[in-house]
Amino acid sequence: MSLTAAVSGFIVLLLSAVVQGQNGWGVTYTFTNACAQEGSTVVLSCSYTHPSTGNGQQYTVQKSFWFTKVKGGEAVDLTADSAYRGRVMYSCKETNCSLMITDLRESDSAEYKFRFITNQPGGRYIGYPGVSLSVKALMDPGLQVKVSRYTLSEWAHLKCHNSCPLPPRSSYIWYKNGDDNQAENSSSYSDYFNSADSYSCAVKGHKEFPSPPVCVFGRWCNRVTYSKRRICALEGSSVDIPCTYTSQKPITSKFWFRPGLSDQPEDLKEDPQYSSRAQVLETERGRSTLRISDLRESDSAEYGFRFTSGSFGWRSRLPGTTLTVTALQVQVTKITAGGSDTQVELRCLSSCSPAAGLSYVWLKNGQKIPEEETSSYTGCFSLGEEICCAVKGHEGLSSPPVYAPKDPSVSSSSCAEIVEQSSVTLTCSSDANPAANFSWYKKNQDSDFEPFGEEAQLVFSSIQPSDSGEFYCEAENQLGKRRSELFSVSVKYAPKLPSVSVSPSAKIVEGSSVTLTCSSDANPAANFSWFKESEDSPKASGQTFIITNVSTEHSGNYFCEAGNTRGRHNSTFLLIMVADQSSLIISAIRLTLAAVILTVSLLICLKMRTKMCLSSDTEPEETIELDNIITSTLKTLQPRQEDQEPPE
Ligand SMILES: *[C@@H]1O[C@H](CO)[C@@H](O)[C@H](O)[C@H]1NC(C)=O
Ligand SMILES: *[C@@H]1O[C@H](CO)[C@@H](O)[C@H](O)[C@H]1NC(C)=O
Ligand SMILES: *[C@@H]1O[C@H](CO)[C@@H](O)[C@H](O)[C@H]1NC(C)=O
Ligand SMILES: *[C@@H]1O[C@H](CO)[C@@H](O)[C@H](O)[C@H]1NC(C)=O
Ligand SMILES: *[C@@H]1O[C@H](CO)[C@@H](O)[C@H](O)[C@H]1NC(C)=O
Ligand SMILES: *[C@@H]1O[C@H](CO)[C@@H](O)[C@H](O)[C@H]1NC(C)=O
Repeated sequence: MSLTAAVSGFIVLLLSAVVQGQNGWGVTYTFTNACAQEGSTVVLSCSYTHPSTGNGQQYTVQKSFWFTKVKGGEAVDLTADSAYRGRVMYSCKETNCSLMITDLRESDSAEYKFRFITNQPGGRYIGYPGVSLSVKALMDPGLQVKVSRYTLSEWAHLKCHNSCPLPPRSSYIWYKNGDDNQAENSSSYSDYFNSADSYSCAVKGHKEFPSPPVCVFGRWCNRVTYSKRRICALEGSSVDIPCTYTSQKPITSKFWFRPGLSDQPEDLKEDPQYSSRAQVLETERGRSTLRISDLRESDSAEYGFRFTSGSFGWRSRLPGTTLTVTALQVQVTKITAGGSDTQVELRCLSSCSPAAGLSYVWLKNGQKIPEEETSSYTGCFSLGEEICCAVKGHEGLSSPPVYAPKDPSVSSSSCAEIVEQSSVTLTCSSDANPAANFSWYKKNQDSDFEPFGEEAQLVFSSIQPSDSGEFYCEAENQLGKRRSELFSVSVKYAPKLPSVSVSPSAKIVEGSSVTLTCSSDANPAANFSWFKESEDSPKASGQTFIITNVSTEHSGNYFCEAGNTRGRHNSTFLLIMVADQSSLIISAIRLTLAAVILTVSLLICLKMRTKMCLSSDTEPEETIELDNIITSTLKTLQPRQEDQEPPE
């Protein structure tokens, strides 16, 4: 099935002289004339200029468009003209703008002008005169060789005639029996001609659109005529490439070939790539059709027909038929978001320009959308819908569907647990057409999600415990966005240095009970064992260690070990000093005694005020000793923590 009909004509674009406006305003068209065949696509372009400031203000262009008609004194934007619905596309790059018209119709023949409007009153301009476009009917032959003969003479005059106007100094190419003749380059020439030879012409620079070959005398010269210059077909479909041929003498061999595939033209049916897919049909004499089925993109090429009759061989310099194999594709051209439903503008594209009169089918979730038959579609679109397009009658060869991202999923590069300082990559993936872009969000302290990254992958080259948290990713394309489920990152690490505390923290008396508590930052949570210095086996396990009915033997340095799957860590020492009940009584007695002696001595001193008394050594010495006992006892009753870690 071919997408384009017999496009035999061509596009001729004439270079313009520079059209410049006044006072810094102007539009310069790349071409001032264009001539194209019905069904083809044409691109008109221009660049514009305007003064940078006016009335002391900066000019900025707010709107620009192309038009042909003026209604009520106002230029009618082509995109608002129903005659061009779905066939025009604007594009501007800075001050260079272009207009593309697809699927040309004869009625498109007109003068196309470009207009731009700035932010200031009166700051508007029309590029006049515009580009005059002439669209030729499909039946129009384009180039033709016209023969003027002189009766009973072999002398004739050939003229290359064109239905489109051509620049006056165009150069021509002449073909004799399919071979180009370098000597002739003007639009016409005269010579003696042989009745076996055929002639065709082309315009230099447009070799792909030559005229059909003609016999100078009679009808039975040697010639091959391709009725279709370009054929565009859908991948997977089949195509017919026809030609007609005549020869002056009986034909000895004939075949279809692909120029450039081998050094010498070779029969396609012999080529393994085509053998099972190529077929040559010859339903009537002088008409041959090459049929290629199950088309592949690699079949895009030029195809030619060749015959020999005796010593004569048709040459292959004259272009044959160019086949383009394409797949359909839906392009999202515009989107207007609003609430749950979105207004979209889609276009069914192929690498070929669509032929006139081709009908399309739009499918939403596999269901035909009624009354949508052009190559563009404007309508509602909601999340979860899939839209594809096809050429009517060939629904089986539809484009791939377009849809908003499907539920994104997050995957982690480490399938086991995530360990501190390891390298971890989180990947967000979502099936979407057009392809989605991604953004990441992470929950912060206030339980809000904050943007965290804008790539499909989130890379932690050395992950830290602080990177733990809840994440989600969002996939977005022109048709919508969706977010993934929450993904928790929990970075595992060995216990940090544990700290130990004791309760009660005041003096520990024999017979009372004491609670030791160990805590350590760890993931997963640590378990604990308790040790007493210079004892190998643990005294207990668990975060708290309760010693009931303490006795003086319990005095000593204690520490805890925190451990989890990632490792272990010992705390520093905690000194437990248990005060002996009897020694406490003795010291209490000694304290009282000391106090009594002191008071007595003081009284004596005060009374006697003798030198001897003040220089006495015995009594103050006793006092100092008692003081030492008191302070050291108090000290040992305070929990004490060593400053240094015990050796590992
Ligand atoms: C605009 O077109 C002119 C002439 O064709 C070219 O030199 C220039 O680079 C173009 N500018 C942009 C931005 O495309
Ligand atoms: C045609 O060819 C002649 C010489 O062969 C050359 O002088 C002339 O410029 C050519 N004309 C064009 C339009 O190319
Ligand atoms: C992602 O794509 C959407 C739609 O195409 C676009 O609006 C958005 O700016 C893009 N975001 C990023 C981060 O590229
Ligand atoms: C406490 O320990 C002492 C000496 O070790 C013992 O005599 C006493 O019975 C214990 N008391 C209790 C309540 O276990
Ligand atoms: C502490 O955890 C480690 C690792 O999970 C385990 O091997 C050990 O038996 C645990 N110890 C206690 C006392 O629960
Ligand atoms: C902690 O101390 C205990 C007892 O001395 C020892 O067996 C263990 O290996 C130590 N742990 C570490 C991590 O040093």
